[in-house]
Amino acid sequence: MRILVTGADGQLGRELRRIADFIENGGDGKKSTFFRDPPPCFEGVDAKKVHFPEDTPSFLGGSRENFQNYEWLFTDFGALDVTDERAVAGFFNRERPDAVVNCAAFTDVDRAETEPTAAFRVNRDAPMFLARAAASHNATLLHISTDFVFSGTAQQPYTETDTPAPINIYGQSKLAGERAVIESCCRGAIVRTSWLYSPWGRNFVLSILKAAASRSEISVVADQHGCPTSATSLATAIARMLPTLIADTQPADIFHWCDAGVVSRADFAAEIIRQAGLPCQVTPLTSAQYQSVTGIKEAAERPKYSALDTKKTTSRFDLHPNPWQQELKKYITSLQYGC
Ligand SMILES: NC(=O)c1ccc[n+]([C@@H]2O[C@H](COP(=O)([O-])OP(=O)(O)OC[C@H]3O[C@@H](n4cnc5c(N)ncnc54)[C@H](OP(=O)(O)O)[C@@H]3O)[C@@H](O)[C@H]2O)c1
Repeated sequence: MRILVTGADGQLGRELRRIADFIENGGDGKKSTFFRDPPPCFEGVDAKKVHFPEDTPSFLGGSRENFQNYEWLFTDFGALDVTDERAVAGFFNRERPDAVVNCAAFTDVDRAETEPTAAFRVNRDAPMFLARAAASHNATLLHISTDFVFSGTAQQPYTETDTPAPINIYGQSKLAGERAVIESCCRGAIVRTSWLYSPWGRNFVLSILKAAASRSEISVVADQHGCPTSATSLATAIARMLPTLIADTQPADIFHWCDAGVVSRADFAAEIIRQAGLPCQVTPLTSAQYQSVTGIKEAAERPKYSALDTKKTTSRFDLHPNPWQQELKKYITSLQYGC
C-alpha cells in the first residue's frame, strides 16, 4: 500500500512521519520516502529522540503488522504543491498511491480574512484536485477539515449531520473543500478535527507555554469552548482508519475526531500551565474584555462553541478518544524528553 501524505511539514504531517518512523523502527514496515529538497530531515528534531506515548502500539491496533505493507510517500510544499492540478495528476501517474492523506492546508485563520483567494486555493481547490486524481485512480482520499465549519451557536457537541455555517473565511474555505471532495465521488473520508497542537509549528499550547515561561499572569479568553486535540492522537486515529477506508468502496463520508471533553480556552491554558509546573496565573476574560485589555483585535471571528461529537467515528472505526487532559499530559511529557 502506497500512502501519499501532502503538507508533510505541518503539525499533522510531522506526526504521521513520526508514526511511519515508529513502524519502520521495528523493521517491519516498508521504507518511507520523503520527497523534498533538501533531503529528508526533521529540522533539528531527531524523531528517534522524541518520546512516543506508551500506548501508541495498542492504539495503532495492537500490532505493527497491520501496517507492514505500508509505504509512506511524504511530500512537502516544494515536492508537491497541491494547488497545482497538473503536478497532482503527474504525481498520481508516476507514484500511483493507493491512498492520500491531505494534511496540506491554509491554516492561518486571521490571514485568511485578508487573503481569501489564497485560502480558497489551498483549502477548496487543492482538495478538489486531489479528490479528482484519487477518483480517477480508484485511490482513497482522507481529507482533514475543521470544527470552524460550524457557527458556534450550539450548546452540545456538533455531529456530522449538523448544518455547517462558518463565520469566517477560513471556515468557509474549508467547507468549500469538503463539498468539493464529496462532489468528486472519490472513496475515503473527510475527518473534521479541532484545536490541534503538536511540538511543532504555531499552536495554542506552545503559545501558552512560551508566554507562561516568562510571565506571572496571562489573560486568556473564556468564552470560546472546544475540544483540544493532540496531533499524535489524530495521526494515530488516521493510521487506524486507513485500512478500513482503503478496503471500503463507499464514497467519502464525514467523520469527527478530537480528544474527549470540552473546555474553554482559559481553562485549557490553566491546565497546560499546571501540567507544565509553571508559576503563572490565568485571568479569564470575555473576547470583548480581552480586546480592550490587550489591544489585540483578531481579524477573524471565532466560533464560541465548536465541540465535536465523535460517536460516529467510534462506532465505525472502533476508535475511542482519550480525555484531552490525558493526551496533554503525554504531550507535555514528550516535550520534557527533549523534543
Ligand atoms: N491547527 C488547528 O488547530 C486545526 C484545527 C482544526 C482543523 N485543522 C485542520 O487540520 C489539518 C492539519 O492542520 P495543521 O495544523 O497540521 O496545519 P499546518 O501545521 O499549518 O500544516 C499545513 C501544511 O500544509 C502546507 N501547505 C500549504 N499550502 C500548501 C500547498 N499549496 N501545497 C502543499 N503544502 C502546502 C503548509 O506549508 P507552509 O507552512 O509552508 O504554508 C504546512 O506545512 C488542516 O486541514 C487544518 O485545516 C487544524
